Amino acid sequence: MKILVTGGLGFIGSHTVVELQDKGFEVVIVDDCSNASEEVLEGISSISGQMPIFEKLNLREKERVQEFFKRHQDIKGIIHFAASKAVGESVEKPLLYYENNLHSLIYLLKWMSEKGGAFIFSSSCTVYGQADEMPITEDAPVKPAESPYGNTKQMGEEILRDTCTVTPELKAIALRYFNPIGAHPSAKIGELPIGVPQNLVPFITQTGIGLRPELSVFGNDYPTRDGTCVRDYIHVVDLARAHVVALERILNTKQQSNYEIFNLGTGKGSTVLEVIDSFQKVSGKELNYKIVDRRPGDITEAYADTTKANRILGWKAQSTLDDAMRSAWDWELKIRRGNS
Ligand code: WQD
Repeated sequence: MKILVTGGLGFIGSHTVVELQDKGFEVVIVDDCSNASEEVLEGISSISGQMPIFEKLNLREKERVQEFFKRHQDIKGIIHFAASKAVGESVEKPLLYYENNLHSLIYLLKWMSEKGGAFIFSSSCTVYGQADEMPITEDAPVKPAESPYGNTKQMGEEILRDTCTVTPELKAIALRYFNPIGAHPSAKIGELPIGVPQNLVPFITQTGIGLRPELSVFGNDYPTRDGTCVRDYIHVVDLARAHVVALERILNTKQQSNYEIFNLGTGKGSTVLEVIDSFQKVSGKELNYKIVDRRPGDITEAYADTTKANRILGWKAQSTLDDAMRSAWDWELKIRRGNS
């Protein structure tokens, strides 16, 4: 069965392609390569033994999207990752973010609602803001977005929900990711941040390998067990598998509703200092870090209640924080030194 993966050369997309191929799906990737390289295709095919179909395409170009679908009438499902995702940049360039993230979604949904099929949307725990209760369930209120990026995720969910309401042939699931980290255990695909990483784990591994002099830990005066912020770090392979399970749910079972939302996390919160400890343990390296001021916009803690995904999808994250940090480190070694 043919499945379209938009943004399939990216971090989560590429891992999901491998898991889809492993389950026998035929994958078509579209990616505009604005934040990913075609070389990722080699990594994917050397893991799975199959080269996915690939088309370089910008999903904002409506005519080209329509023309693409005319050539691929047999696509039965879409996993939609392609989006701009830098929170800071979205504050600087809101229109770019609304255009990139919403136009692409709308054009894909136009096609899918005419043809009918499965649609999986990459959403984010960012929709909860600082939730009042931990762990966070899917029923926690959606808080006003902190950034245009976050707003595109909230609006994306609303567009999807409203479209599903009037389109019974469209069956969609929004997946709210917590903090995806790590890399494929083969170290053939992983995260490739452009420039200075904004996220914690790539900053740690780049500091560990000497590319950055030290990590700044943003604040140690939060009301948490060691004063640093708490997040739910989930191994990207666990996250990728959840997409396949969600797709199979839509394709194989009769859902009560044609629009569902699931949290994807481990259910366990870790502080920044615990992530550093884990890195030091698995790498055998001491990490240079210093405590600096809080980063504006950071929330104190966010970790998932995963009961709904466990119960309904039958999915549970398997990897520990140490597993994920080890894979992130192996990947860093591989890309900087050619070791595997
Ligand atoms: C994690 C923790 C920082 C860098 C991201 C996305 C968000 C959503 C979830 C996708 C925080 C601390 C970080 C550094 C640090 N995902 N930190 N020094 O902020 O939870 O959010 O994932 O939609 O949109 O932005 O992730 O990795 O940036 O930070 O101390 O150099 O690490 O303060 O506590 P965050 P992050």
